[in-house]
Amino acid sequence: MFDFAPTADADKITLYDDLLSAADALTAGEADAIANMANISALIWQFLPDLNWAGFYRMVVGELVLGPFQGKAACIRIPLGKGVCGAAAASGQTQLVEDVHAFPGHIACDAASASEIVVPVMREGRIAAVLDLDSPLPARFDEADRTGLELLIARIGSRLA
Ligand code: SME
Repeated sequence: MFDFAPTADADKITLYDDLLSAADALTAGEADAIANMANISALIWQFLPDLNWAGFYRMVVGELVLGPFQGKAACIRIPLGKGVCGAAAASGQTQLVEDVHAFPGHIACDAASASEIVVPVMREGRIAAVLDLDSPLPARFDEADRTGLELLIARIGSRLA
């Protein structure tokens, strides 16, 4: 049994420190990327407040395909360049979207989503997957979230792809 828990009343930096330590411990020595994506989705869901979706899309033969996640059932395939996930995959850059309704081509899997952040997972210089978090709150994600999530992927990304 794993008993990871965020520090009570943690600020964002402490929260991401706790999340990184838990994610590192949970994936260390495990080579199965799908199992690791499943556990990282669950950890993010447990640690970060105000989310309505947290999970992965994997790059499979030129398009993004739904991977392990927490939240409501979601669209299965996203072409490169489409939506927030496709933009992250096409550019290799994190997409931080304060208002999804203002993002051209946003794909609404859950009508409750108001803001979103998508972080690319690179493997040998190529996009291998994206980490996608959605929130029902407008502007839920900020630069501290971008930094925390990019550090998380930098630390354990090689175990996810
Ligand atoms: N909103 C995403 C689609 C995936 S769901 O949010 C789970 C997008 O625009 O790419």
